[in-house]
Amino acid sequence: MAGRDLNIGMIGYGFMGRCHSNAFRTAPNFFDLPRRPVLKAACGRDAGRTQAFADRWGYESVETDWRRLVEREDIDLVDICVPNDLHAEIAVAAAEAGKAVVTEKPLARTTAEGERMVAAVEKAGVANLVCYNYRRMPAVTLVKQVVESGRLGRIFHYRAKFLQDWTISPDVPQGGAGTWRLDVQAAGSGVTGDLLAHCLDTALWINGGIASLTAMTETFVKERTHAETGRKQAVGIDDAAAVLARFENGSLGTFESTRYARGHKALYTLEINGEHGSLAWDLHDMNRLAWFDHRVEGALRGWSSILVTDGEHPYLGKWWVPGLIIGFEHSFVHTMADFITAMETDRPAGPTFREALETTRVCDAIIASGKSGAWETL
Ligand SMILES: NC(=O)c1ccc[n+]([C@@H]2O[C@H](COP(=O)([O-])OP(=O)(O)OC[C@H]3O[C@@H](n4cnc5c(N)ncnc54)[C@H](O)[C@@H]3O)[C@@H](O)[C@H]2O)c1
Repeated sequence: MAGRDLNIGMIGYGFMGRCHSNAFRTAPNFFDLPRRPVLKAACGRDAGRTQAFADRWGYESVETDWRRLVEREDIDLVDICVPNDLHAEIAVAAAEAGKAVVTEKPLARTTAEGERMVAAVEKAGVANLVCYNYRRMPAVTLVKQVVESGRLGRIFHYRAKFLQDWTISPDVPQGGAGTWRLDVQAAGSGVTGDLLAHCLDTALWINGGIASLTAMTETFVKERTHAETGRKQAVGIDDAAAVLARFENGSLGTFESTRYARGHKALYTLEINGEHGSLAWDLHDMNRLAWFDHRVEGALRGWSSILVTDGEHPYLGKWWVPGLIIGFEHSFVHTMADFITAMETDRPAGPTFREALETTRVCDAIIASGKSGAWETL
């Protein structure tokens, strides 16, 4: 039974604004939350479009300036679903106004920006979270639980990749609505902060810290028209990144991300190889986890495919019945349910801004190594 209200102020009504709005609406129907999320205000720059979004999702009011939203007395939680260049300024202002803050990933464009955000939320003592939602896909949470249980034994390898193919044409502009990810000013980096950051957050969570790394990055299309200026400008983002890393636990990591893998739209895969077994997961078959247990003797030893839909699997007891699958959007529902639940305890839901700063640090090291070719120590 939900307790007192938690008034949400949502900034941005794009892809993530929709995912998060859906999560706040759905979470209390399936999870027992100590506070009831109320869609209080939606914020966007265009009044008409913001009102249309508010009407569709059930927001009570709209704002066209995020500063107004952050100042409002009736907002408890500010949710930042806007391009990366706005995360720091909004998060710092929200923390100073005493609001709980959720921001989409990556935390920030750079470590320096992220450090300011961590300092602000910690000084204000407000609840904070970066929405690295893949942690809360049930099969990925199960990977974390299996590794933590020690069943894999010593970990030797962690490998992950995130592949897309939507920027191959040189006609795709940089900057502006929809293509801000190609503008280094707005995004901070290319595939590293956008896609690889997901793989890195999961990796750091499951396999611990990265001690050192070296990276190869490439910008395949060197100039693109800027959607806002109409001029051809140099492209400052990384189109692809390949990373070799040493984890603090002695295991080796390999990571790859690109928007130039023809045929792949959003392929996130990860695999962990340990002394006694291996685990592998694929976003396109997100309800399954592949498992190899070397300790099974004889002819039946082999890879098995676990359908992660039973009540004993993470989060699944709150959904349907065994055998029925869930989707991408559920990871956001789990994220918001965990965050709201943790707000009432002294154990924050992760990753907090401080935890997510590690991912940004690794991203910065990848970009630096991609330029210098050198190994970076973290
Ligand atoms: N967790 C995930 O899987 C995931 C997926 C996609 C994007 N993201 C992250 O979410 C964030 C938003 O990405 P998106 O895909 O939703 O982008 P989007 O382009 O779909 O939406 C961005 C929104 O921000 C609004 N906006 C821009 N400037 C604004 C301002 N000054 N004031 C108010 N609103 C403003 C735009 O109008 C738009 O509604 C980014 O940080 C991105 O990295 C995370």
